[in-house]
Amino acid sequence: MRLGILTGGGDAPGLNAVIRAVVRNATRTYGWPSVVGIPEGFKGLVEPLEPIELTPDTTRNLINRGGTILHTTNRANPFQYPTPDGGYEDRSDRVLERAEELGLDALVVLGGDGSLNIAHELAQKGLTVVGTPKTIDNDIRGTDLTFGHMSAVATAAEALDRLHTTAESHHRIIVVELMGRYAGWIALRAGLAGAADGILLPEIPFDLNRLCADIRARAREGSPSSIIAVGEGALPAGGAISIQAQGSGVYQPQLGGIGAQVAQKLQEGTNLESRVTVLGHVQRGGAPVPHDRILATQYGVAAVDALAQGKSDCLVALQRETIEPIPLDQVVGGFRPVPLDHPLVDSARKIGVILGD
Ligand code: F6P
Repeated sequence: MRLGILTGGGDAPGLNAVIRAVVRNATRTYGWPSVVGIPEGFKGLVEPLEPIELTPDTTRNLINRGGTILHTTNRANPFQYPTPDGGYEDRSDRVLERAEELGLDALVVLGGDGSLNIAHELAQKGLTVVGTPKTIDNDIRGTDLTFGHMSAVATAAEALDRLHTTAESHHRIIVVELMGRYAGWIALRAGLAGAADGILLPEIPFDLNRLCADIRARAREGSPSSIIAVGEGALPAGGAISIQAQGSGVYQPQLGGIGAQVAQKLQEGTNLESRVTVLGHVQRGGAPVPHDRILATQYGVAAVDALAQGKSDCLVALQRETIEPIPLDQVVGGFRPVPLDHPLVDSARKIGVILGD
């Protein structure tokens, strides 16, 4: 068995830990001689980029390394591949040819919804492929947790800790815009861990008047400073999501800007000085936390086990403590928002966190 592996879309802490686990399980348990690393995501299967032979030796000391040693891109969908004139063309046949040239029997895709969708389409064209759920956003359907998410939450929670002391010193409101696209998992978990006074999620459109009234009430009751964690996809009731840059062709729009808007409206509506911090890609960088290192290792092991059992067109997914392959068509074509009755939302409400509704 000659296995290829690639990392697609935005990076997330834990990618290298999955690569390490795939290589170790493939070589040690199944005796497959090596794993072929495909550089730069699906681009490396369209363009003649030099593959990287991965062995237990070349993948040493990877469990705690952030980023991806294979590099990645979110601009290389083989089904709508960018052309020099700014258009798109279908290069998916080239991927199958390239897989054959490289002697690949199967491919492991470490990806989020975009890459998993591509993996599913390639599987339908005959490629043997297994996905692992990567994204800091935790928004992939069918799995309880994606790797990278808990590391982003840890980084964001640490930022909230720091912002509390400066906000308290100045009696200010500080709004912290966090990543997560259309799902509020990062804002919710980081907000809880970092003791945010308010958490605004895409899933709960906020009422600005209500929000200002709640913050004024806090000030009256002796807390003139407030920390508000805002998911980048959060929006006012009846309003729209803030977009920094429109998507092009198959590519997602870039979200952002809601933090600054909320800070300005809060300053106007409460007369309290307000500031905004946009945490940005800090949330994606750096070493994975131990929870992600372990989860990434389990996903890497499970991906190889699934291939050894003859599985394809599936995602290895965490469902109540166990990791099992599930069909990719149950995963792609949608995302996983925070359910409004999720226990974390309930806990936030019960400890008095302002949710803006
Ligand atoms: O999906 C992960 C994520 O970090 C989102 O939270 C964010 O909206 C987006 O990627 C940013 O992507 P880019 O790599 O294009 O800046």
